[in-house]
Amino acid sequence: MSRRRRIYEGKAKILYEGPEPGTLVQHFKDDATAFNNEKHDVIDGKGVLNNRISEYLFNQFNQIGIPTHFMKRLNMREQLIREVEIIPVEVVVRNIAAGTLSKRLGIEEGTQLPRSIVEYYFKSDDLGDPMISEEHITAFGWATPPEIDEMTALALRINDFMSGLFVGIGIRLVDFKVEFGRLYENELMRVVLADEVSPDSCRLWDITTNEKLDKDRFRRDMGGLIEAYQEVARRLGILFENDRPEQSGPVLVKS
Ligand code: TMP
Ligand code: ASP
Repeated sequence: MSRRRRIYEGKAKILYEGPEPGTLVQHFKDDATAFNNEKHDVIDGKGVLNNRISEYLFNQFNQIGIPTHFMKRLNMREQLIREVEIIPVEVVVRNIAAGTLSKRLGIEEGTQLPRSIVEYYFKSDDLGDPMISEEHITAFGWATPPEIDEMTALALRINDFMSGLFVGIGIRLVDFKVEFGRLYENELMRVVLADEVSPDSCRLWDITTNEKLDKDRFRRDMGGLIEAYQEVARRLGILFENDRPEQSGPVLVKS
């Protein structure tokens, strides 16, 4: 593994050179960070679950004509992806007030929003991903107006699709973050979904109990993160025995 050329290392993932030109290997680490790296921990098994959940979702997106960088899962922690030029804009879609929206605007967490709200953040660890508007994106040349339109339309389609998918398994999609990249094919350039979509990048609440099944468990020191991610995978029908970290004692079997 160490012989492969490392292209990029982020907080939760590493990108290696892929087997063919124009491909990369995306490796999911167990590292969890929050609040711009202020909080950091290693959570055994998180990378395996995110790899599996993101694979499942990206396959679904590809099938409904949402273009993505995803090609196939290679092993427990890695997937083969197309090399893209990442657009430095994080697109957040919100359905229910939570997190920084609640804090910024004083809206109680859990309040249904009048409609889905799209926000943009500048992808910069040094600056802590500040919120930006379309004006900043075009003025500083991070993306063109047609690219912004494309990212926004795709993010809203992803929102509609995932909201339905998760409701079907008793989960409310509160909000999520996506990233896009430019895929160059022959003379053409397409904007495609990149990065990952997983409980690290979504807020997922159980519909009946409002229990958090996402990274807020880590951000808010609630514990039980792996169990929550396993529950999401289980409900999606993609939890395999090997994905479970070593069990050290009796396991409570839920009915
Ligand atoms: P926020 O409420 O902290 O702004 O987050 C909104 C959604 O975006 C939430 O589902 C978490 C996700 N998110 C990321 O995945 N990465 C990030 O860097 C940020 C700021 C948010
Ligand atoms: N992903 C960001 C960080 O690691 C923020 C977050 O998810 O809370 O700092």
